[in-house]
Amino acid sequence: MTVRTQIETDFSIRSFKGGYDENFTYILTCMRTGSQCIMDAAVPYEQIEPFTTSGLLSLFITHSHHDHTAFLKEYTAHHPDLVVVSHPNCIKQVNANYPQEAVDGGTVTVGQLNVDAIHTPGHNPDSVCYRLENVVFTGDTLFVGRTGRTVNSGADAGTLFQSVYNKLLTLPSETIIYPGHDYGSVPTISVSENIKISPLLQAENEADFISRMAAFEASRD
Ligand SMILES: [Fe+2]
Repeated sequence: MTVRTQIETDFSIRSFKGGYDENFTYILTCMRTGSQCIMDAAVPYEQIEPFTTSGLLSLFITHSHHDHTAFLKEYTAHHPDLVVVSHPNCIKQVNANYPQEAVDGGTVTVGQLNVDAIHTPGHNPDSVCYRLENVVFTGDTLFVGRTGRTVNSGADAGTLFQSVYNKLLTLPSETIIYPGHDYGSVPTISVSENIKISPLLQAENEADFISRMAAFEASRD
């Protein structure tokens, strides 16, 4: 029998839940180089510390809401060389030794991984999703079972519709969504399965989505 020792996958994702509201932070590792990046600074450093290595290069921020940046200073205190990647408006708000702007359509490398930035305003103007291969980190733009909310300052349901329906739901249907909070029945889900279980992802058009969002937000008050 042949023993296969070759690594079969190009990357791994470890999830950490905690922070202010069942937030997720993720560590993404390039299996070929050992390079790592973190997605959002949402859980205390001690929670992720056992899983960080000398290959840790960068921290990607999905948007500037406090619960997603809460532990950024802790992370950069332990890793002063950390490159902090975020939307230009978000990067202005955080203090990073090595800031890097995430522009729509731009690519940031982590070892041999190419992480593409997708600007997805709507929940927040500086929301960015990060995609590599069959995975997308969606922050508060898209959760399992629904979209992000539109009640905070700068939120807009019509803009959210354009981002979600034109930039995320158009990704290959098998793409796996890694959201910013554990709000659904499962922690992650494919694009096609999410559409099936989410009335907010089944709108006929922008006006229908806005009316579905208004009903959803009214039910939350
Ligand atoms: Fe948010």
